Amino acid sequence: MPFPLNRMRRTRQGERMRAMVRETRLDPGAWIYPIFVCPGEGIRTEIPSMPGQFQLSVDKAVDVARQVEKAGVGGLLLFGLPESKDEFGSGAYAEDGIVQRALRAIRQNVSDLVLVGDVCLCEYTDHGHCGVIRDGEILNDPSLDLLARTALSQAQAGADIVAPSDMMDGRVIAIRTRLDGAGRTHVPIMSYAAKYASAFYGPFRDAAGSTPRFGDRRTHQMDPANVREAMAEIRLDLEEGADIIMVKPALPYLDVIREARNRFDAPVAAYQVSGEYAMIEAAARNGWLDRDRTIHEALTGIRRAGADIIITYYALELAETL
Ligand code: PBG
Repeated sequence: MPFPLNRMRRTRQGERMRAMVRETRLDPGAWIYPIFVCPGEGIRTEIPSMPGQFQLSVDKAVDVARQVEKAGVGGLLLFGLPESKDEFGSGAYAEDGIVQRALRAIRQNVSDLVLVGDVCLCEYTDHGHCGVIRDGEILNDPSLDLLARTALSQAQAGADIVAPSDMMDGRVIAIRTRLDGAGRTHVPIMSYAAKYASAFYGPFRDAAGSTPRFGDRRTHQMDPANVREAMAEIRLDLEEGADIIMVKPALPYLDVIREARNRFDAPVAAYQVSGEYAMIEAAARNGWLDRDRTIHEALTGIRRAGADIIITYYALELAETL
């Protein structure tokens, strides 16, 4: 039915009408809020390249967790800044590691929140890489044991989900085997399955102090040009036992999210990363973008592309204002 019988504008006349025909809605229950936990007490240091986000000591992280739970956000993703770093990233799997301490403290104070541990070594190694280094090379297989130990120690400290972000081959099966061997058969793995070697992680590396001392992450994270390869990564992670798969970053990779949603039945998570956050904040501060509308539109786009779960630094603020 062509014009003038058909007028697409009829259902756009008012907000109530538009809300009725809206195809995509945002639901804080499907969001995860990332936080950075640091040593000390009473510390809440703003991250310069991520205004509005903070490095939090354990006590302050507990306060934030309570707020996040009250706002109706689904979960919390924990990153740690250890007291000290070493060659093998031992702070990642120490029983009293920073993330383990935070998990225990939060678990004691909030009952309902889904606590996700980010499993990686780069915040804990003195060289800033995600695995064991020999002669300047990031070794795959020797890193698996350390990643599996990290995941298990997080589960033992109270993590409801473990989320490996390192992109070593075989880490999902290594983690699944270790968890199951210790009786943690019920702990799901959310794998950063299609994680790209992205410039958009810049601000995160300031926040987490995880910039590599030499080289980059291109021998393990994916080439931004590839989507078929992302599907292969996802398939392998699912075969190894991943329960939830993730695409990261989000906005520059909406096609990858869509393709993952179309091809696989597992829940798909998308990570709106630090650089995506920083771009919006910087432009809004300059008066170049309408902050609230931009945030809303970016998250709606990620959801529309097919993400079931969204990991976003806007989770707390947006859940409180929705
Ligand atoms: C750790 C990790 C990174 C991010 C999440 N986990 C950084 C990286 O891979 O260099 C990035 C998150 C963000 O930018 O918000 N491997």
